[in-house]
Amino acid sequence: MEGDGVASGGMCGIIGVTGVDEAFSFLVEGLRQLEYRGYDSAGVALVADGDLWLAREADGNHSVEELALLETGSRVVGSGVSGSRTGENSGASSGASSGAGDVSIPPPRHCEAGIGHTRWATHGRPTVENAHPHVDCSGRLALVHNGIIENHAELAARLDANGHEIASETDSEVLVHVIEEELRRSESLLEAVRRALEDVRGSFAIAVVSSAEPGVIVAARRVSPLIFGVDERSAVLASDIPALLGTTRNLFALEDDQIVELRPGVAHVSGLDGSKVDPVPLTITWDLDAARKDGFDDFMTKEIHEQPRAVAETLLDRHGPGGSLVLDELRLTREELRLVDKVFIVACGSSYHAALVAKYAIEHWTRVPVEVDIASEFRYRDPVLDQRTLAIGVSQSGETVDTLQAMREAKRWGARVIAVSNVVDSSMTREADGVLYTRAGPEICVASTKTYLAQVAALEVLALALAEFRQTLDHGVIERLVGNLNELPAAIEECIDREKEVFEVADRILGARDFFYLGRNVGYPAAMEGALKLKELSYLRAEAYAAGELKHGPIALIEPGTVVVGIATRNRLREKMLANVAEVRSRGATVVLVANDGERDVEDVADHVLWVPEVEPLLSPVVNAVPLQLFAYRMARELGYDVDRPRNLAKTVTVE
Ligand code: M6R
Repeated sequence: MEGDGVASGGMCGIIGVTGVDEAFSFLVEGLRQLEYRGYDSAGVALVADGDLWLAREADGNHSVEELALLETGSRVVGSGVSGSRTGENSGASSGASSGAGDVSIPPPRHCEAGIGHTRWATHGRPTVENAHPHVDCSGRLALVHNGIIENHAELAARLDANGHEIASETDSEVLVHVIEEELRRSESLLEAVRRALEDVRGSFAIAVVSSAEPGVIVAARRVSPLIFGVDERSAVLASDIPALLGTTRNLFALEDDQIVELRPGVAHVSGLDGSKVDPVPLTITWDLDAARKDGFDDFMTKEIHEQPRAVAETLLDRHGPGGSLVLDELRLTREELRLVDKVFIVACGSSYHAALVAKYAIEHWTRVPVEVDIASEFRYRDPVLDQRTLAIGVSQSGETVDTLQAMREAKRWGARVIAVSNVVDSSMTREADGVLYTRAGPEICVASTKTYLAQVAALEVLALALAEFRQTLDHGVIERLVGNLNELPAAIEECIDREKEVFEVADRILGARDFFYLGRNVGYPAAMEGALKLKELSYLRAEAYAAGELKHGPIALIEPGTVVVGIATRNRLREKMLANVAEVRSRGATVVLVANDGERDVEDVADHVLWVPEVEPLLSPVVNAVPLQLFAYRMARELGYDVDRPRNLAKTVTVE
């Protein structure tokens, strides 16, 4: 739905439960765990005593917390939220989508089923009207949706002609009305949802409840992720695993074009075409504790402190007894990898920066040409790949839709496709020919930290494995580099221990508004990652450049007050880097350099130095990222921003 000005179902988190008495608190807790997918607005619908109860909130970061207040009674009626009953038994007007000013009724204590949603708006303002769940005209059906309904305008026109009232600007709401129509000629909610989806183009993960079928949730998926679980007395569903940790470990993934009917203790899965399906059980490697703050002020600090372990675990057991590298999840034969004549890496955001670092390592160690592409560009630019191309999709979540679709595109060209992901059984890992896992544990903070470091480490191991299979590096050199990789966790730990020194530098820079991040060689993607951290956390302008490029235009922007953050750790371009830095300093910039311990000459061109231990140059982005993360963190905190949930962002981008 491009450029049509409607608010989209977008990229969101959905949750559902049946067979649990305290459904409201269950759903709100689940929504808290899903907020990394978006938090512009949130809502819950419950089926209780033959009625539908609905509450929605559009208060940015606080939407879920505002909903939670309804339960304790500390909040009854507010500016944007109301708990209201719809449907015949309530006596309320039918088809009500609750909004500001409705008479509020606290959530029912006992209910048969419920669904919830936390939203990240892709078009239009995040308002209560656009918040999910959406309700049909009869007030009996409620629906939550993650994805984009591409033919919503066509469907809306048809519904309008049939007398439906569409209350929101979203593409999602049409779905609930189409289901309402189909219910008239269907025997069950399941049948109506299946029929309705025949008319739908686009991506969706939906969950629907009906006050006419208490205890039933019908959910379906195309592209957008959806998992579900059952135990003896209940059944649950969600967009992602963290929301369901602590419920049952009996979890399954719904695949594309599948539909599930959940009842307490029972899940019935089938294809949207009616075919029989045996659901695939999920492997759960995380526990609930891993997804909590562990006493840190915020998830970002916790996750920064987890970095040595994230990298160590990612590197664990990669080195077999005979000296050869072990990458067993790859599922590609040595021969297949030996024949590769081109590597394509596709990714977005920080994962893209990790991919850029890997390009330097793969090309240097294996002599295979590597192209790195932003996934959303790759998909549409007619790239050149064939059966001898190795395509690598890098994604923390394994669900980023641009990367997922880029990988599908690569497959279509006959390339062998590998996913580098942090989430076991994510969409990408299920679809790829092979998988290399980063073992960083759940990352909740929207800004990537530990997963970025783990991605670089994983990709460097992959680069070395390719070098081994293709015999482009001597065994002894590979041994040394593997040893260097294993030294990284200790070096990262040292950087974290120097947190206070980084904070002191940040405090002295506070007030600056314009930042340039410069680097050369692998220092360039490291600079890009540093700049992204500052942008997304502190909302400050930060541009990253290859330092040698500055003289070709951007240096015109340097003036007193501009801050230049440079990566000046040891590599063969270090002297040139220092010369580039001297050029900006002589034009009035304040210079902050990341430099190796003991290299005092950097003090001649820097106002402040962030010292890091020296490591093998091609591996240095893993270490150099740490002071830049801490720097951005401190700036954001001192400016009063929520580091875990920066404005306008969502952890996992499941829309284009
Ligand atoms: O889950 P993915 O790795 O595919 O996510 C890609 C980007 O959305 C992500 O790295 C984003 O740029 C982060 N906010 C960066 O901190």
